[in-house]
Amino acid sequence: MTKYIVQGGHPLFGEVHISGAKNAAVAIIPAALLVDGVCRIENIPQISDVTALLKILEQLGASVRFLTTSSVEIDCSHITTTQVSQELAHKIRASYYLIGALLGRFGEAQVSMPGGCNFGGVRPIDQHVKGFVAMGAEVHEGDYIFARAKDGRMKGASVYLDVVSVGATMNIMMAAALADGVTTIENAAKEPHIVDLANFLNSMGADIKGAGTDTIRIYGVDQLHSGSYAIIPDQIEAGTYMAAVAATGGQILVRGIIPKHMDCITAKLQEMGVEIEEQDDTLLVRRSGKLMRTNIKTLPYPGFPTDMQPQITTVLSLAEGTSMVTEGVWDNRYRYAGELLRMGAQIRVEGRTAVVEGVKKLTGASVQAYDLRAGAAMVIAALAAEGTSEITNVQYIERGYEDIVQKLCDIGARIECVECEEPAPPQRQIG
Ligand code: EPZ
Repeated sequence: MTKYIVQGGHPLFGEVHISGAKNAAVAIIPAALLVDGVCRIENIPQISDVTALLKILEQLGASVRFLTTSSVEIDCSHITTTQVSQELAHKIRASYYLIGALLGRFGEAQVSMPGGCNFGGVRPIDQHVKGFVAMGAEVHEGDYIFARAKDGRMKGASVYLDVVSVGATMNIMMAAALADGVTTIENAAKEPHIVDLANFLNSMGADIKGAGTDTIRIYGVDQLHSGSYAIIPDQIEAGTYMAAVAATGGQILVRGIIPKHMDCITAKLQEMGVEIEEQDDTLLVRRSGKLMRTNIKTLPYPGFPTDMQPQITTVLSLAEGTSMVTEGVWDNRYRYAGELLRMGAQIRVEGRTAVVEGVKKLTGASVQAYDLRAGAAMVIAALAAEGTSEITNVQYIERGYEDIVQKLCDIGARIECVECEEPAPPQRQIG
């Protein structure tokens, strides 16, 4: 077990290079199961969710070979089983993508129910199941999900999603890539990682059109072939570093991003008085003056991302005036607010809205990471706070942020990762 010790109150200066997108990688790695050949995947982030998914693929009979730390070859020509062991699958939410990928390629899958719900609400997968059933699968849900295509191969179908779901959109896309006929997903999610998964599959021979709009058509093909693909940069990792400099002050160059993907975050930070200049694949982010209040509502892309909500609320806790943050995607994603109160923030949560009264300063404290983005928020708060903070449960943070301690040290943060004796209380996984 490790924890972070942070000496706060130091502005950030320098450059940070953004890694491959976690939420694209955790779909694209399972999607390699659809390929009867070798996929070379570049720009893979080194995070624990990726390690776990690659281990699962190996257990299913895939061969996995790293060419560099961020480039991997996955050969799924000789898969030996469609049953995923509970031990690994249970640890990550994204293990649900194994269902769509295995169903799509082999017509059957057995995967333990993905962990998750520590946003405080339920995280259903009914829309995923609705899609599989429409495509001719029988699905039984219990501790495990058993899914089988009635005729051994999925069949193209029309699926209207009742809620805009990233996971259901990607899972149905995978199940449909090798199906017999055309599948249409209406009310599809439009996040950059949806487009990335479609581009990955198309580069291996799939025929997917409309990804990035709310109607996606997947024309089933008989086989996918070997190929190589580079994952997009991580919008949320970039946004997190931008939020960090907004909170601490200073100036950083955020490198290796797609600025268009950042528009929803950039616009809000600018309203708060952060100066941002776009140059090719970089953003120069500077905060020298006061932070100003604003209101934010999280929405599916291209709205403000829910995965930046804890980080931006932390920044707003230091802004002048009262801000309202409304969570439009998850029922409850404010568990971290109690930790911020311990650092001197003034936040009142009323249902899906947090009323944030800006304070002049935060003060270092011992806090814990409740989940991945809540953990990122704790890091930002600790960097901005006066004095020393200790953050426990950092394994959540490392599920989604490559080398966060080193990247922060490189821009002048005083943060170190140290062994801790007491294991933190067990938490359920999300992501
Ligand atoms: C993905 O989760 C991300 N996880 C989450 O990232 C992210 O918060 C979320 O999308 C929204 O952007 C991964 O990519 C692994 P959804 P996902 O299905 O796909 C409801 C992070 O910090 N819903 O788009 O599970 C659901 O309850 C995280 O990186 C149903 O009702 O989210 C929620 O209210 C954590 N039925 C809304 O839809 C379903 O079948 C959006 O969920 C599915 C979802």
